[in-house]
Amino acid sequence: MTTSSQRARVRVWDPLVRLVHWLLVAGFAANYLITEEGSAWHDWIGYGLVALIAVRLLWGFVGPWPARWRSFWPTPARLRRTLSGLPASASERARITHTPLGALMMLTLLALMLGLGVTGYMMEETVRFWGVGWVKELHEAMANAIALLVPLHVLGAVLESRKRRDNLIAGMIHGYRRTPEEPPTSS
Ligand code: HEM
Ligand code: HEM
Repeated sequence: MTTSSQRARVRVWDPLVRLVHWLLVAGFAANYLITEEGSAWHDWIGYGLVALIAVRLLWGFVGPWPARWRSFWPTPARLRRTLSGLPASASERARITHTPLGALMMLTLLALMLGLGVTGYMMEETVRFWGVGWVKELHEAMANAIALLVPLHVLGAVLESRKRRDNLIAGMIHGYRRTPEEPPTSS
């Protein structure tokens, strides 16, 4: 029987991953709730978030292992296994990075954020799309979609924290996670 005190604390999230995460949260909140739509602050915060996402995308190829795409990419096989409710394999339990559903959510949120940057650019910097209704509506719909998905994202993190008896939200702050309850078997 492994007690939580025997479970090792391992450094999982490097400072870049954590900083990008909380800046995305702050920037989104600022643009969704505070800045005036289409103001200089709104536009520059939005472009700043696009730049942060570009850095995170590259970091997924060159950063430490838990930050790499290869360590958590939600392949159809991994997603099928999670969704079918089968017990996780030993190797899946031993992973201390994003779960397949968590990774899918992450990719969705990042894609929507990039979409905000693209539609914002179209509205502000191009003559072709300036004042075009559907671009504005798409921009608004993507911002609302993020606002709807974030509570699910947090709920997922809370449920996974309970399942693993490891506070994932604190982990995104200080960078440490606990190793799984049972050590992986050789299966
Ligand atoms: C606009 C709001 C948010 C966005 C766009 C967002 C996006 C992301 C992204 C992209 C990741 C993956 C991190 C990486 O590998 O770089 C992530 C992970 C995570 N997020 Fe968020 N997030 C948001 C809000 C929040 C909030 C409000 C919380 C909690 C209070 C939260 C908790 C977490 C946790 C715990 C993880 C890591 C899960 C794990 O350990 O696998 N997020 N989020
Ligand atoms: C995190 C990124 C962003 C978020 C959360 C966000 C969110 C929003 C929201 C909620 C609105 C109000 C939509 C409405 O009710 O009409 C809005 C409007 C607008 N946004 Fe953004 N935005 C972001 C990025 C950008 C960027 C990068 C630009 C341009 C460079 C931009 C340009 C505009 C403009 C021009 C409007 C006014 C549209 C109009 O009513 O004519 N946004 N944005």
